[in-house]
Amino acid sequence: MDITFLLNGESVELRGINPMMTALDWLRETRRLTGTKEGCNEGDCGACTVMLSCATTSQAVNACILLLPQLHGRALRTVEGISGPNGQLHPVQEAMITHHGSQCGFCTPGFVASMAVAHMNGETDHATALAGNLCRCTGYAPILRAARASQDQPVPSWMKADQQAAAALPSPPVTWLPESSDALAALYLQHPDATLVGGATDVGLWITKQMRDLPKMIFLHRARDLHTITPTDDGTSLRIGAGVSMAQMLQMATQHHPSYADLIRRYGSAQVRASATLGGNIANGSPIGDNPPALIAMGATLHLRRSDARRTLPAEAFFLDYGKQDRQPAEFIEAITLPRHAPNLRCYKLSKRFDQDISAVCGCFNLHIEGGIVGAARIAFGGMAGIPKRAHHVEQELLGQPWDLTTLAKVQHAWADDFTPLSDMRASAAYRLDTTHGLLLRYFHDLAGHATPLHEVTP
Ligand SMILES: Cc1cc2nc3c(=O)[nH]c(=O)nc-3n(C[C@H](O)[C@H](O)[C@H](O)COP(=O)(O)OP(=O)(O)OC[C@H]3O[C@@H](n4cnc5c(N)ncnc54)[C@H](O)[C@@H]3O)c2cc1C
Ligand code: FES
Ligand code: FES
Repeated sequence: MDITFLLNGESVELRGINPMMTALDWLRETRRLTGTKEGCNEGDCGACTVMLSCATTSQAVNACILLLPQLHGRALRTVEGISGPNGQLHPVQEAMITHHGSQCGFCTPGFVASMAVAHMNGETDHATALAGNLCRCTGYAPILRAARASQDQPVPSWMKADQQAAAALPSPPVTWLPESSDALAALYLQHPDATLVGGATDVGLWITKQMRDLPKMIFLHRARDLHTITPTDDGTSLRIGAGVSMAQMLQMATQHHPSYADLIRRYGSAQVRASATLGGNIANGSPIGDNPPALIAMGATLHLRRSDARRTLPAEAFFLDYGKQDRQPAEFIEAITLPRHAPNLRCYKLSKRFDQDISAVCGCFNLHIEGGIVGAARIAFGGMAGIPKRAHHVEQELLGQPWDLTTLAKVQHAWADDFTPLSDMRASAAYRLDTTHGLLLRYFHDLAGHATPLHEVTP
C-alpha cells in the first residue's frame, strides 16, 4: 500500500507500507522523531499524543493506536513540529516552562501536543482536554495553570497551516481505503475475510497488545458518506453514518440529547473520542460499550448493508449473545438512526474513575409519563449481562403504574428477573444489581428536577 501525508508541514510519500505499523513506531523507528513517547501502547496515557488534521479539523490522537493507512491524505504534527520552524517555542511550551509544568518530562510532549490542539481549537475546558494525558510526577495543577495562561495567546501560523495544506494535498485513491460506502460494500463483498477498521481504538490494541496478525484490513475513514449526520426526511430523526467519531457524536448530543452528551464526555479521552467511531463501538459487541445502552433506550435503528442489500434492525436485536451479533459475512453497519429529541432520556455511567475509564455499569432510561402514569418505558443497561440488554421485566411492571416512589419500591424485585450480572475487576455482581435500582431512583429524582450528579464528594 502506498500513502501520502504531511509530516510537520512536509509532504511524505511511503511505498509498500506495512498497514499494521503504528504511526508511533514509524515516527520513532524510521524518522527518529523520538519526542513522541511510548508509555502504555494502548491509548490510555497520552504520552504518544500527536495532532492529526484534515481539511476541516485538527484533533489530538494517540499515535500508538493510529495505523499508517489512517494518515493518508492527512497532516500529522508531532511535538517536534509544534515549536516553530526557527525553533520558536509555542505559547503552551513557554507556559509549561514558566509554570513549572514538567519534572521527569516523559509525559510532557504528549501534554504539549494535547494543549497545542486545545489552544488551536479555542478549547478552554482544560481538564476535559487533558483527561487522556497521565502525569506521575508534576501533578496537574501547574499543567492546568500553564494551559490557562496560554489560552488567549495567538495561534502560531505554522499550526494553522495544516488544515489548508491537507486540503490541497493530492492523495490518490488506495485500494484498501474505499472512498464511499458503495466502494466499501463492493470491496468487502470481494474480501469478506478482511477486518474493517473504523478508528482502530479496538483493532489497534489487537495489534499492539494481542500481537495479532491482520493480513487484510479495510479502512473506513475515507468513506465520506459514512461520516455525516443528517436529519431524516420527516425531520423527526437523525441518520448517523457508522464512521462518525465520538467527538462528532459529542457535538450532536450536546445539541439534541444533553444527558447522552454527559455520557460521551466521559467516553475515553479527547484522543480516543477523536478516533473511535459509533459503528466500531456497536460492531465490537462489547457488553460494556457506552453507546449501545443509550441507543437501545432511545429506540435507535441500525442500518446494515451487504453489497446492495440493506436491512434494518432495532439496536437491541443486533446483540445476540456474548461475542455474537446479528451480522452476516461481508455485511457492515452503514448508519444508525435515532430520534432527534428524547427529552426524558437520561444516561448514567458508573466507573471507578470519572475520566478515561470503562463503565462498570451504564444505565440508560427513557420513560414517557402521561398524567402521572408510565405510558412507555425503555430501560437498557451495559455491564449487567453478556450483551447490552433491556430491562423488560422492570419495564413491564412500570407500565400503566403511577410514577411515584411507591411504584418504584414495588418493581425493585424485578431487576433480578432481568439481570444476573457477573463479578469482575470492575464491580461485584451484588454491587451491579444494587446499582440498577439506585439508578432508577436517581432517574426519578432527575426527572423531578432535583440535582443528582455527584462530581465531587467532600467530607
Ligand atoms: C484508551 C481507551 C479508552 C476507551 N474508553 C471507552 C469508553 O469509555 N467507552 C466505550 O464504550 N469504549 C471505550 N473504548 C473502546 C473503544 O473506543 C470502542 O469500542 C470504539 O468505539 C471502537 O470504535 P473504533 O471505530 O475505534 O473501532 P475499531 O477498533 O476500528 O473496530 C472495532 C470493531 O468494529 C468493527 N467495525 C468497525 N466499524 C464497523 C462498521 N461500520 N461495520 C461493521 N463492523 C465495524 C471492526 O472490524 C472491529 O471488529 C476505549 C478504548 C481505548 C483504547
Ligand atoms: S503510549 Fe500511552 S496512549 Fe499511546
Ligand atoms: S513529568 Fe514525569 S510523568 Fe509527568
